[in-house]
Amino acid sequence: MKIDLEICVLAAGKGTRMKTSVPKMLQTVAGRPLIEHVISTAKQLSPAAIHLVVGEDASAMRALFAEQADLTWAKQSEQLGTGHAVMQALPGLNADSATLILLGDVPLIQTETLERLISCDADIAVLTVNLDAPTGYGRITRDAEGLVTGIVEEKDATPAERDITEVNSGLFFIGPGLLPGLLAKLTNDNQQGEFYLTDIVAHAVAQGLSVKTVNIADAEEVGGINDLVQLAVAERYFQRRQAKALMRAGVRILDPDRVDIRGAVTFDEDVIIDVNAVIEGPAHFGAGVMIEAHSVIKNSRIGPGSVIKAHSNLDGAILGEGCQVGPYARLRPGADLSDGVSIGNFVEVKKTVMGPGSKASHLSYLGDAVIGAEVNIGAGTITCNYDGVNKWQTVLEDGVFIGSNTALVAPVTVEKDATVGAGSTITGRVPQSSLGIARGKQRNIEGWPRPEKITDAAGLVKKQISPKDGA
Ligand code: UD1
Ligand code: CA
Repeated sequence: MKIDLEICVLAAGKGTRMKTSVPKMLQTVAGRPLIEHVISTAKQLSPAAIHLVVGEDASAMRALFAEQADLTWAKQSEQLGTGHAVMQALPGLNADSATLILLGDVPLIQTETLERLISCDADIAVLTVNLDAPTGYGRITRDAEGLVTGIVEEKDATPAERDITEVNSGLFFIGPGLLPGLLAKLTNDNQQGEFYLTDIVAHAVAQGLSVKTVNIADAEEVGGINDLVQLAVAERYFQRRQAKALMRAGVRILDPDRVDIRGAVTFDEDVIIDVNAVIEGPAHFGAGVMIEAHSVIKNSRIGPGSVIKAHSNLDGAILGEGCQVGPYARLRPGADLSDGVSIGNFVEVKKTVMGPGSKASHLSYLGDAVIGAEVNIGAGTITCNYDGVNKWQTVLEDGVFIGSNTALVAPVTVEKDATVGAGSTITGRVPQSSLGIARGKQRNIEGWPRPEKITDAAGLVKKQISPKDGA
């Protein structure tokens, strides 16, 4: 008979050692809350149920999993220890099922490791790891024959016990029907006055149950997160692991120690990511996309063959095929670039659609604009889209050429194939195929004297005489 597995995830702790106002379970690794990592890994095992033990105020966590109706919630109003936390889930647990205990603050555990733990042939299996610096973890005690006798928390350990390097990851497998009896044996007679879940091991041994350890080599996979230092360690570990998986799937990452990818990000073949890129999902990169150094890209879709040059910042942008962006470009939400669009240095684009082959190569602001195909936007072009109250639209039809340093005062339309002269302030329609020019006329003053410095006897500059005319 196949025995059902139920998973109990402990997440009610206050996380006081984090010293932040953000609840520990909502702190993120790779942009996703710790608890989300644990729950999504738990689901990979297809358990009969997942019980989540949370504290008094778990509204943020409930909101996070609002769409996951298959979670069972148990409340632990007072944090009286990990054993006490499991007791709160007990009424909802099926006594005939095996139980896997996971900790919300041990988020980077992998499915394969859990599969090893739950398939261990024992009544109780403890996931352990050997640490050169075991500080903070419960130590695994063994008898002369090497058989497990219990787990001792650091605060309760003797100096000799503290020298033990095999530690408790906090993750347990407990065979069918055993949990209620073992929990009933727990007391809070220890340094912290808590009901330690770890004490079930000694009770199991006393009852003659078989207790085994499953020891893993990768200590970082079960690193507990109790403070911001450990959170940073977990983040780097996760990023390296993720980068490895991506490289194995064909994404070229020039230095896996200098890339951060957060949330749901997908890559087609032959994407290249240069150093210090920060990528936040949801995001998708088409085949052959090149992301140059120091670019920050979030919530964007980048079409095949596009190049994001160094130091560019993209948020909420959609790019077609073969676009060129940057260096030093800024694409804001609603930047929608068709195939072959080129955005150069110090160009900001917001809520603007650009047709195929259009270019804004230098120093421009394009906001609330609808730009057709093959439009050339000169350096220093500004859409004046805001009157202090309303946002207005600029329309540049196909084939338009905007001369440098043009102010387009919206609402305004430049019709198909029209040209705007450099330095213009365009406030009205420019008809099809015409030249719109709106700037002060140049006048030349012949023989105009430049301002002159007057120096005294000591050679000091006294004053500057300005010419009367023209300055
Ligand atoms: C625990 C283990 C320790 C192990 C370490 C691994 C115990 C007594 N100790 O120590 O042996 O080496 O994890 O990381 O189990 N929680 C509750 N309710 C509570 C207390 C804790 O839900 O009343 C939850 C926390 O939210 C957290 C997890 O249980 O997710 C572990 O609690 P924590 O206080 O961090 O235990 P550690 O001191 O790290
Ligand atoms: Ca912990």
